[in-house]
Amino acid sequence: MNNPIGIFDSGLGGISVWIDLIKQLPNQHFIYVADSEKCPYGEKSMEEIQKLSQNIVEFLIKKQCKVIVVACNTATSAAIQLLRKNFSAIYFIGIEPATKPAALYTKTGKIGVLATKSTLNGDLFQQTKEKFAQNIEVLVQIGEGLVELVEQNKVETKKSLELLEQYLLPMLAQKVDFIVLGCTHYPFLMPMIDKIVKNKAEILNPASAVARQTEKILIENNLIHINHQKKYYEFYTSGKIEILKEFVNKYSPIILDNENSFFGIMKEVIE
Ligand code: DGL
Repeated sequence: MNNPIGIFDSGLGGISVWIDLIKQLPNQHFIYVADSEKCPYGEKSMEEIQKLSQNIVEFLIKKQCKVIVVACNTATSAAIQLLRKNFSAIYFIGIEPATKPAALYTKTGKIGVLATKSTLNGDLFQQTKEKFAQNIEVLVQIGEGLVELVEQNKVETKKSLELLEQYLLPMLAQKVDFIVLGCTHYPFLMPMIDKIVKNKAEILNPASAVARQTEKILIENNLIHINHQKKYYEFYTSGKIEILKEFVNKYSPIILDNENSFFGIMKEVIE
């Protein structure tokens, strides 16, 4: 089945998941939506996040997507159940902080989770913590301001270093041996995170697991595209095209040009 895979995030963060998806599924077409105009989602109410997510999903369904990857921890936590209920004909793959593997492999019995306010307060995170991390100390930290820095492409700046030090040094002082990145924007801050954490803790990003899960769903449902023809990537934003284009080109592992890609505005998500 030659239809595209839909993928969306509150903004540019989900590009970190798209990178793993195209490595895992090199013969698939992708349509990415960044709701940068409404970003960040992390401070919004559950109802708002659900409404915004539904708008994007309607757009992706109109574009004939065969599955949709919710490349946003915040939207997964707030909206994936509703999306699965309201759009029951399509498969959704979500992302959540990798609390389970961190709890399983910690030696110090302490792990850190850096995520948005909405993700940390959401039922999904609380349930995973209760189920898999009952005997573990889970230090949570809201990454206030980090999503905005990534959206503005201010990744390697004094400000990002300062904020990350403020959030991560207390966790390291408490001897966490795993730090879970619970927001898809945060992997872009890895150069700064590495500077702070060095080898004192392992950083967990679940994007590759999401890519493997997406492949599994496609195979199980006979939706995999086995035609090795030209691949096509479409990127839409509710914000500024130039910012999206610059960001995607900076991080894409493949060269994007007019032959294999398209950048556009997603009007449907602008009210
Ligand atoms: N990338 C989103 C996530 O994974 C960022 C959330 C936000 O917009 O606040 O949670």
